[in-house]
Amino acid sequence: MIDRYAVIGNPVAHSKSPQIHTLFAHENGQDIAYGRLLAPLDGFKETVERFRAEGGRGLNVTVPFKEEAYRLATLHSERARAAEAVNTLRFDVDVVFGDNTDGAGLVRDIRDNLGIAIAGRRVLLLGAGGAARGVIAPLLAEGPSELTIANRNIERARMLERHFAPYSGPGVRSSAYDALSGSRFDIVVNATSASLAGALPPLPRGVFAAGSLAYDMMYGTGLTPFLEWARGQGAGLTADGLGMLIEQAAESFFVWRGVRPRTATVFASLRAA
Ligand code: ATR
Repeated sequence: MIDRYAVIGNPVAHSKSPQIHTLFAHENGQDIAYGRLLAPLDGFKETVERFRAEGGRGLNVTVPFKEEAYRLATLHSERARAAEAVNTLRFDVDVVFGDNTDGAGLVRDIRDNLGIAIAGRRVLLLGAGGAARGVIAPLLAEGPSELTIANRNIERARMLERHFAPYSGPGVRSSAYDALSGSRFDIVVNATSASLAGALPPLPRGVFAAGSLAYDMMYGTGLTPFLEWARGQGAGLTADGLGMLIEQAAESFFVWRGVRPRTATVFASLRAA
């Protein structure tokens, strides 16, 4: 029987994961089937269990189930424990292995695809929700000179500062948006959901250092509002989250299949579409 995988979420119809994984499988001679699984908001566990009972080998987990997937997994990678969220489930014989490949995807896209070192750089992360939390440990592991988290609700940023204090690297510093006035950063990552509403995080002017990178974890057609604004503020380079999406998928593929797909052609074909 062919090995089956799927992306589970609600909604899930928009997900590009089936397209990405099907291309990876084709390019790497892996015989798998990859579909979409819509779970009712109150029926995540049941939907996962049915898929597994029917022979499913693994799942990508998307909104709003990443925390529930963390609780469902019986064994976690260290990066999933740091994030307290799981975007990749692998069904082994007696173990449900939970991993989180989002942060690795972001790091790979910045470091390898865009060719920008994170080591020694001043990094600013906007937002303190699940999307931000998922990428902090892998960012810290790169050894930035600082990692500042700005959030409207400052208590959520402070919680992350405390949570990541024991991790290697410079630690996390929390900040209110207006307190960033006068600070400069080399890499500014937007992990807020502001772009979804066509809104901008309330950043003061002048936070972009010369030659800095503005990165939006969201993507769409054309520049997101944040990237548009960043360009006007003097960011040297802008990138949306399409590369991160493809890199996190490649890392999940590796977790399941032990093969690390190349991503450049998939990126080119999705960008063209
Ligand atoms: P996710 O799991 O996608 O991160 P979330 O947990 O709801 O979703 O978090 C959304 C993040 O986007 C939060 O950091 C939120 O800021 P608050 O915690 O202060 O609410 C941030 N956010 C959403 N809209 C925003 C906006 N217009 N400006 C700034 N931050 C925004």
